[in-house]
Amino acid sequence: MNTTYCQHLANEQATCLFGEKLVKLIYNITDKNGFIIYLNGDLGAGKTTLSRGMIQGLGHQGNVKSPTYTLVEEYHLADRHIYHFDLYRLNDPEELEFMGIRDYFTPHSICLIEWAEKGEGILNSADLLINMSYDNNARNIELIANSSLGSEIIKQLQ
Ligand SMILES: Nc1ncnc2c1ncn2[C@@H]1O[C@H](COP(=O)(O)OP(=O)(O)OP(=O)(O)O)[C@@H](O)[C@H]1O
Ligand SMILES: [Mg+2]
Repeated sequence: MNTTYCQHLANEQATCLFGEKLVKLIYNITDKNGFIIYLNGDLGAGKTTLSRGMIQGLGHQGNVKSPTYTLVEEYHLADRHIYHFDLYRLNDPEELEFMGIRDYFTPHSICLIEWAEKGEGILNSADLLINMSYDNNARNIELIANSSLGSEIIKQLQ
């Protein structure tokens, strides 16, 4: 079974469009399940841009702020809760326990987690692992399935 999918993203707009497409696939297959994505990649690799595409893809009209200082921004869209995390500034994964991280992983939530490696050991496991990387002035994205729901998404992208 093929459990990874890679794509070249030529510019910022391509990243946003890919996010929109991805979130619609996720929305359609997660009726009574939550969905968790770990977003990894260097500073500036495009994690927030992809998240913006996903959040706007579910109908959000306004800005999408980077949760760098707040750790999490939330959106209530299309009967789902979207929680967008950026754990770059997390000093200790235990801080996630103090912020009540368990309450975010519900059957109606889609969690997008930038710098998920900083929460290792505390975060629930992901359905999809996404790695974004620089390719000169453009970017490459790699998606790796980490659950049966994640595999379903990869299958639909292929
Ligand atoms: N496919 C792409 N090609 C070229 N530039 C892109 C692409 N996707 C996003 N960018 C640009 O990359 C820059 C940084 O993006 P973004 O803030 O999304 O990165 P990030 O991975 O969230 O960084 P951080 O780790 O600091 O949170 C933005 O200026 C954005 O326009
Ligand atoms: Mg970011």
